[in-house]
Amino acid sequence: MTTDTLLREDLYEGGHAPGVAPVRGRGGAPAYFSAWDLHAYYGESYIVQGVSFDIREGEILALLGRNGAGKTSTLRAIARMDAPGLTHGEIWLDHKPLHEMKAHQAARNGVALVPEDRCIIPGLTVQQNLQLAQIAPPHGWSLERLYELFPRLGERKNQEGTTLSGGEQQMLAIARALARDVKLLLLDEPYEGLAPVIVQEIERTLESVKQLGMTTVIVEQNAIAALHLADRAVILDMGEVVFDGTAQEVLDNADLRHEYLAV
Ligand SMILES: Nc1ncnc2c1ncn2[C@@H]1O[C@H](COP(=O)(O)OP(=O)(O)OP(=O)(O)O)[C@@H](O)[C@H]1O
Ligand SMILES: [Mg+2]
Repeated sequence: MTTDTLLREDLYEGGHAPGVAPVRGRGGAPAYFSAWDLHAYYGESYIVQGVSFDIREGEILALLGRNGAGKTSTLRAIARMDAPGLTHGEIWLDHKPLHEMKAHQAARNGVALVPEDRCIIPGLTVQQNLQLAQIAPPHGWSLERLYELFPRLGERKNQEGTTLSGGEQQMLAIARALARDVKLLLLDEPYEGLAPVIVQEIERTLESVKQLGMTTVIVEQNAIAALHLADRAVILDMGEVVFDGTAQEVLDNADLRHEYLAV
């Protein structure tokens, strides 16, 4: 029996060989990223209730669902933040077991979470915000390359980061993630609070990031915009996965969108 069939048979039993990345349905190869049966709590509150999905290298996955469905919590669990606490499950990125790591180790292994509030550091210029991200290895993009992708940031490199417009702050937050060696980019509501014209600008930037083959999870209330960017979609409801398929399937299925996304 090959390792492959062994793993696949294990999976049908609801598990897989310990210490080996799980082999999921799509093509039988270990996924570049996989979240496997994640359960996570804030204190006593059971929020992430058995979430599983995988992503191929270079794919963009839209993680969608109503307010309170558990999207942010799932991203935080993947980035190995202290809360919510992961009590069960496995998270693999490029053959590395993130579930065994703390947040700083996950970051060192290529996970970058861009939170909703963007977390621009007060008192620092745009350039200093980017340089700070580059202090610790592994290093990602150079300042030159970042300013090429985000010319607006180049124009404003000496401006204090917190005085940027909302759209520019979002660009800075994404640029800061890319300043490190990122394997998995987790974006929590990158279009939040932005005017449609700015959303279009961020969308174009994310299209460029996609062309570069960055594996990405995008959480968005603006589901239609996220679905146009994404290859695949996972819908959460009350902390569980209720849909896993292509982005196009969600765009084509009005009933599904009404039921879980209210769009
Ligand atoms: N720090 C926390 N302590 C306790 N409960 C929390 C905490 N953060 C979130 N929750 C709860 O977890 C559930 C999921 O929240 P989460 O932020 O993951 O949802 P979401 O899908 O990102 O929603 P939204 O679209 O509104 O951002 C909610 O019921 C929320 O109240
Ligand atoms: Mg959220």
